[in-house]
Amino acid sequence: MTGAMIGGMHGASAQRAPLAIVTGANRGIGREVARQLLKGGLDVVLTARDAEKGEAVVAALCAEGLSPAFHVLDVARDASVAAFADWLRHAHGRCDVLVNNAGIAIDGWDTPLENLPLDVLQRTLDTNLFGVLRVARALLPLMRAGGYGRIVNLSSGMGQLSDMQAGAPAYRISKTALNAATRILARELADGDFKVNSMCPGWVRTDMGGPNATRSVQEGADTAVWLATLAEDGPTGGFFRDRQPIPW
Ligand SMILES: NC(=O)c1ccc[n+]([C@@H]2O[C@H](COP(=O)([O-])OP(=O)(O)OC[C@H]3O[C@@H](n4cnc5c(N)ncnc54)[C@H](OP(=O)(O)O)[C@@H]3O)[C@@H](O)[C@H]2O)c1
Repeated sequence: MTGAMIGGMHGASAQRAPLAIVTGANRGIGREVARQLLKGGLDVVLTARDAEKGEAVVAALCAEGLSPAFHVLDVARDASVAAFADWLRHAHGRCDVLVNNAGIAIDGWDTPLENLPLDVLQRTLDTNLFGVLRVARALLPLMRAGGYGRIVNLSSGMGQLSDMQAGAPAYRISKTALNAATRILARELADGDFKVNSMCPGWVRTDMGGPNATRSVQEGADTAVWLATLAEDGPTGGFFRDRQPIPW
């Protein structure tokens, strides 16, 4: 994977492994994406909003022989995102891959949109949509400066307009809006070696997905890792599950 990845990069970037940032990487799919990227030979900055939880994961990955960097990042807080971007600029000076994984689902399956407390929608959007935008906007200057970028947005089939259902309306709206942001950013970054894609991991056994979900975190992380390491002729502005395009 790394050979193809580095082969697609230009200039000085081609000499070293790409640097990937993963948000919400202290558990669930984000942790596994970070792990698989490290195993694929990428440099990874694992981020989490809780330093202790993040550092515990770093220790566990180090015990596997992997070497992630770590920094605190709360995607819902402007100051945290600004501090992270500042640190990244000084400590690494680059950002090749951004996996926007951090997400929340705080409205229940039984909540009708009609009764959804607007603060629940606001908090959901603040993480699942504005969180992604905060981080992407803060890191895009570094990505553009490197002339190379892969942005992967962890979306969900629950945000598909083509199959929209009732239940968990705030979560659904946040993922539909995230998909729109994916398409807009992909168009804005159309000139150059940049890829911006959304993906659905399927129903995955995590704290969010619950124990009855049908997929392991390894399966859930696979398409995100694939999109994070696309070659220059790979797709952009798409929505994927199991490495295949799915309807918006
Ligand atoms: N599991 C599924 O079946 C499924 C299906 C479709 C899509 N997805 C999407 O996949 C992504 C990962 O889901 P998951 O199942 O791994 O969820 P999860 O187990 O609940 O983990 C969510 C992660 O996001 C982090 N997070 C939440 N708010 C954050 C914030 N403000 N700043 C930084 N990190 C924050 C959490 O950190 P804390 O530990 O600090 O809370 C945690 O690390 C989400 O975007 C989710 O919507 C999941």
